[in-house]
Amino acid sequence: MRATGVLRIVVLLFTIAATWLFASTYFSNTGMKSINVKKWLRTYIEPTKTPTIQNKCHSRRLCPEHTFTFRIASGAANVVGPSICFDDIVLMSNVKNNVGRGLNIVLINGTTGKPIGIDSFDMYSGDVKNLLAFLKPIKKGTLALIASYDDVATKLNDEARNLLADLGSIHAFHLAFRDSWIFLGGKGLKNKSPFEQYLKNSKETNKYDGWPEVLEMEGCVPKKLE
Ligand SMILES: *[C@@H]1O[C@H](CO)[C@@H](O)[C@H](O)[C@H]1NC(C)=O
Repeated sequence: MRATGVLRIVVLLFTIAATWLFASTYFSNTGMKSINVKKWLRTYIEPTKTPTIQNKCHSRRLCPEHTFTFRIASGAANVVGPSICFDDIVLMSNVKNNVGRGLNIVLINGTTGKPIGIDSFDMYSGDVKNLLAFLKPIKKGTLALIASYDDVATKLNDEARNLLADLGSIHAFHLAFRDSWIFLGGKGLKNKSPFEQYLKNSKETNKYDGWPEVLEMEGCVPKKLE
């Protein structure tokens, strides 16, 4: 009982810190006035109004005003596809039949929250040119949500890794064969995104035979106000 209480507080603090970090890097050079910290904390700490309300994206918590709820899950081995939910809409999943081996990417207008691009890129036998053509035109203020499925790295070259790093990824540079990776970043961030998880494919620690465990992440990403 006590241990779960502590864990819940740790998780809560982590969520607040991640959203806050993202906000501070996202807004740093837009000239926007700083956000009222007290107000933000209050929206996190106040309990959900009624427990019957279904949080967006089946998230365990209610995201505060001026944020979008998201949830990203990587694929499971080469069997179950990844899923990406943003602002309560599942944009990519097995059920939607729009996921594929490699990198699964959703681009979102960070102001309106509307999807502006959804695609998957086969990084095992596909052509990296398609990925480059998708990533290069991304404009400032665009959010990118990415989930791995099976293999994300065989065809990934330095140019593509640099474009992913430009979106705020730390792990883009060492993604390797069959690693698990989920990420939310954006064009125009000043620092690295706090929303990133990575698991190395390694015989000793893999959950499945040839693949690491599924990764899942949910959070609240600040709206970009203009
Ligand atoms: C987001 O949408 C708004 C309103 O349509 C538009 O003015 C803005 O340029 C868009 N931003 C991006 C990054 O697409």
